[in-house]
Amino acid sequence: MKHQQLNERKAAATPRGVGVMCNFFVNRAENATLWDEEGNQWIDFAAGIAVLNTGHRHPKIIAAVEKQLQAFTHTAYQVVPYESYVALAERLNALAPVDGPAKTTFFTTGAEAVENAVKIARAHTGRPGVIAFTAAFHGRTMMTMAMTGKVAPYKRDFGPMPPSVFHARFPSEQHGVSIEDALASLDQLFSCDIAPDQVAAIILEPVQGEGGFRPVPAAFLRELRTLCDQHGILLIADEVQSGFARTGKLFAMEHFPEVKADLITMAKSLAGGLPLSGVCGRAEVMDAPAPGGLGGTYAGNPLAIASAHAVLDVIQEENLCERAEHLGQHLREVLGLAQQQNPAIADIRGLGSMIAVEFCDPATGAPDKALCAAIQQRAMEAGLLLLSCGQHGNVIRFLYPLTIPDAQFQQAMEILSHSLTAR
Ligand SMILES: Cc1ncc(COP(=O)(O)O)c(C=O)c1O
Repeated sequence: MKHQQLNERKAAATPRGVGVMCNFFVNRAENATLWDEEGNQWIDFAAGIAVLNTGHRHPKIIAAVEKQLQAFTHTAYQVVPYESYVALAERLNALAPVDGPAKTTFFTTGAEAVENAVKIARAHTGRPGVIAFTAAFHGRTMMTMAMTGKVAPYKRDFGPMPPSVFHARFPSEQHGVSIEDALASLDQLFSCDIAPDQVAAIILEPVQGEGGFRPVPAAFLRELRTLCDQHGILLIADEVQSGFARTGKLFAMEHFPEVKADLITMAKSLAGGLPLSGVCGRAEVMDAPAPGGLGGTYAGNPLAIASAHAVLDVIQEENLCERAEHLGQHLREVLGLAQQQNPAIADIRGLGSMIAVEFCDPATGAPDKALCAAIQQRAMEAGLLLLSCGQHGNVIRFLYPLTIPDAQFQQAMEILSHSLTAR
């Protein structure tokens, strides 16, 4: 009853453009559990879209934010700086897989980090062009929307897009695009659309997030690095979704130790539920914009910075990278067993706990969005929140807090298994 009234108020007061997955409203949350306004309990495998690798309200994170609340909540770092911002930059500079000395600056949202990475790349190279990939997701602001490689629902009705943004094909054997095809599409861009010496940056997600949890093939990443070096193009790794232990490493780029990005964008699980994003990169590149060129009123808010320090502590103290591997293996086993009974499970893929399962019609191989939605619905009816993704909306991705207790994870696996195999 309460939810019905809330939904009526929501429909009257807020625009339909903000699509909302759940028809219930949250009341409170703790680690991997949500309680709604009618007292129902949910296992949260959506984690606020990849934000809660350390769970809802981790006690250490709450304590760090409460302590900061007692000191100051805002000065605008550009006006009156604070040590915690510098200390977080120092920590990330030491941790991020970047060649040589690094520098980091902070913003608020993932899209803002990506926008600023592009600004920094343009300032460093003096070039306009940006190349992204098909099915990529980089955000909803004008520039990041242009860089996103999916029209509906992100770009439809919102054009024209900012210029100098191009898309190459993301290599994925499973989806019929070989590494050679992807490289050929870059060649084609260079001959048809933009000369390589006009390209400031190539940006890619080491594991595509919204695009279906597709890890980039290592061989392609190596080729990309060579191409960038050949033409003086910067390589940006968008780790907004893949960062902070989700893949079993702090950054997904650590799975490809032979390739270093020039710039890395981060957000989401960086600050455990408080809004914070950042760009970390080679110091000489990061220093390209002139003083005043970067920043933002709320950029690097002190509460969010305090939270991020606690997140980094928790990831280390609770061995969340190892735990991501451990939970991910367990999940893969459950999905593998379900695949034996459900031939529509076309692919199980991912790194660490950044795992997805894709559904296709076994007879035709066509993406099966309806089945994906039905499985998501079945799980939801049993109390498990799952998110979908993929160019065709036929993929379920798993984003549980890495701090989830074993018994609750097991309970979720049973619901999942039943949802995947029920007829
Ligand atoms: C890889 C990637 N980049 C950028 C963004 C945009 O982040 P935000 O929604 O915080 O602007 C997202 C959000 O899902 C993302 O997954």
